[in-house]
Amino acid sequence: MRTEPARDGGRQDDETSPDDLLGLFPSGTSRDGDGMLRVGGCRLDELAAEYGTPALVVAEGAVRQQARDYREQLSARWPDSQVAFASKAFPCTAVQRLMVSEGLWLDVAGGGEIVTALAAGADPATLILHGNAKTTEEIELAVSSGVGTVVVDNFDDIDRLEAAVPAGRVQGCLVRVIPGVQSSTYAAYATGHAGSKFGLAPAVARQAIARIEAAGRLRMDGLHTHVGSQILHAEELAAAVAPVAALGDYPVYDLGGGLGCRYTYSDYPPSLADYLDTLIGAAREHLPAGARILIEPGRSVVAPSAVTVYRVTTVKPGATTFVAVDGGMGDNLEVALVGQRFEATIADRVGGGEQVTVVGRHCESGDVISEDVPLRDPRVGDLLAVPVTGAYCYTMSNNYNGARRIPVVFADSGDPRLVVRRERWDELLSRDVAS
Ligand SMILES: Cc1ncc(COP(=O)(O)O)c(C=O)c1O
Repeated sequence: MRTEPARDGGRQDDETSPDDLLGLFPSGTSRDGDGMLRVGGCRLDELAAEYGTPALVVAEGAVRQQARDYREQLSARWPDSQVAFASKAFPCTAVQRLMVSEGLWLDVAGGGEIVTALAAGADPATLILHGNAKTTEEIELAVSSGVGTVVVDNFDDIDRLEAAVPAGRVQGCLVRVIPGVQSSTYAAYATGHAGSKFGLAPAVARQAIARIEAAGRLRMDGLHTHVGSQILHAEELAAAVAPVAALGDYPVYDLGGGLGCRYTYSDYPPSLADYLDTLIGAAREHLPAGARILIEPGRSVVAPSAVTVYRVTTVKPGATTFVAVDGGMGDNLEVALVGQRFEATIADRVGGGEQVTVVGRHCESGDVISEDVPLRDPRVGDLLAVPVTGAYCYTMSNNYNGARRIPVVFADSGDPRLVVRRERWDELLSRDVAS
């Protein structure tokens, strides 16, 4: 089922300028003399020949720069601060390792992301554990691994922590507060509204705070809030600060992530500087000057710096011309899940062309990659490039219709590096234990 976007959808006419389209690709993307796109300095046709299709190509330098910009721009505005990358946006060790090497902390949602973060070399003290339904096993894993911060979402988290933390140890905790902010993102991505399943309403949060303060082995470090994801208005993100501040003075405030990205021509997210000006402006107004501020961006750190490359398998003319490719909702669920708009281009014929609908190979009519998108003379065998696929696409990749999960290739200054290989056919059988 689709949730309609709560704002204008993006649509492109057939006058697409190559520059408009290139503006959606990772910074540094260029075109060779024959028109072929280069991402991270690598030709997409050469990457496709080497690693096959579909493949997720990440412009490594662009991700690093964005991680660096986040850290520098936050600490310039609020020196006692930390950026924790929301691992859920791209939870593989190569991405987590990159973030760690840029000095970011990691937000981990659940045991699996703790495991990959530790494998990526993260200092457990810099991990922030989330989850609205943490299991006993996950809490025990967090405690035994030395995860620095557990974000308490409910009273059962407190019960489990009290049981898991051994004598002589103290576990740092934040309490997740519902700020009561209605944001204009997709309904499925909103988390900060009254009635959200995430966190506790302020009055209930007070009770959780009191319990943590009374627990000998738990330390009440502060408060957490998160308004939602793909939010294109900085004021909506900053609106969460005052309700959280009203709960009192604490050493730490984690203001979550949520900054939206430019997926299509009609998306105008605030710049990183404008977002931080607005958020930290609210923090200066409402939070204690001596507090530490954490933020947890995911999507806006990684989404714009990756491209998915597909091979066109068939072109079916008709009232709607369907251009079908060798991937789809197995490697990009955001379209089917919330109706996120993605743009697309033939990799060596960028801009202009006739309106077509790009669809995937899966057995759903909702398996659409890009509806009504202009493509220039699409043919079987062409490579199709879809930009802004760096967030939540790898995360939600799946085996629907026996799809093998796709590889991730880091491209940097013309050097490609495989960081996640394509799943093999035999791996599709590896968990089937019945004979
Ligand atoms: C608790 C929490 N923090 C951070 C994020 C990251 O959000 P985004 O990827 O939109 O920056 C999420 C995802 O929605 C989240 O649930």
